[in-house]
Amino acid sequence: MTAAAVFAPARVNLIGEHTDYSGGLVLPVAIDLGVTVRGEPDAERIRLRSQAFGDSVVLDPDGSAGEPVSGWGRYVAAVASLLADRGRPAAGIDGVIESTVPAGAGLSSSAALDVAVALALCRAAAFELPALALAKVAQEAERRAVGVPCGLMDPATALLGRRGHALLLDCGTEEHRAVPLPSGLAIVVLDSGVRHELEHSGYAERRAELERGLAAIGQRRPADLTLAEAEDMARRAGVDEIPLRRLRHVVSENERVRRCVAALEEPGGPDLSTLGRVFREGHDSLRDEFEVSIPELDLLVDLAYEHGAVAARMTGGGFGGSIVALVEANRAAAFATDVKASYAARSARTGASFVCAAVDGAAVSST
Ligand code: GLA
Repeated sequence: MTAAAVFAPARVNLIGEHTDYSGGLVLPVAIDLGVTVRGEPDAERIRLRSQAFGDSVVLDPDGSAGEPVSGWGRYVAAVASLLADRGRPAAGIDGVIESTVPAGAGLSSSAALDVAVALALCRAAAFELPALALAKVAQEAERRAVGVPCGLMDPATALLGRRGHALLLDCGTEEHRAVPLPSGLAIVVLDSGVRHELEHSGYAERRAELERGLAAIGQRRPADLTLAEAEDMARRAGVDEIPLRRLRHVVSENERVRRCVAALEEPGGPDLSTLGRVFREGHDSLRDEFEVSIPELDLLVDLAYEHGAVAARMTGGGFGGSIVALVEANRAAAFATDVKASYAARSARTGASFVCAAVDGAAVSST
């Protein structure tokens, strides 16, 4: 076995937010920012050094360690241990981790790390798992490493993304297909500069609140109900206002994913005004019904529309992080500069921007 590099992309979610963990629809894109694990086989240990943090982790091939692991090393340990549970033979790796994903920007840097490490470990042991089984290892690793009960979207995108396409994934049935992105539109990510860490945010609380709403609809899948049906069932079950609002967001968000896919695939060409309207509704619902936005993200979305975005909304788990905007490709750079200037003037914060390309899912290459 020779040296290899595994690149796993980060993701930006176009729409379908907080729907994945109730078996709903998501429409993310794998982007050209990501995590690379470069390494060679090591008979004894997993030894990985982070270029960004300058520290290392040394583990047994099954993820166990002599002393407690902290920081990013917790993800490596969790992935190694879960792969060992699934039968990965004991084989180590000696290498370095490089990342181009800003941490805490809501672009799923940790799922990219999980997936890159998982694929590098599988390669070192000549072991294979189907893409969605590997995605579930990465999903479970988040829970084990930092206690975040996240869904399947982020690691699935890192594995199943396709160049020039978004991924339409039904997190309940696990059916998925690629949806072509209009070549005239650029994906612009605008980072609010407010760091989000799901580990310390209200993510788990929101999920628990939604669970109460799901109990009220007899654990039916929100993606299978109309808003009127869900509201009616929940009211009759006497559910409180908070779980009702969380449920309303999720049911309507599934419908928004369908409307966006239809708008993107409109036979005569993408229906841009519908995309704009549906993204706006999605953002408002995350702000008012699911309550995961923050004033900085609301401001960025307003500024994006003021500066001519076709569509814009917050993206990712919320409580900080980024918005995603779809912008006419030839104006993308100027748009990003203008929105950042207005944002700095109105928020006293410095934002960052990325014009992202939609790329293929994780891949191994020889170095
Ligand atoms: C985070 C989680 C995902 C998903 C989003 C919200 O990115 O990791 O599983 O729940 O938040 O859509």
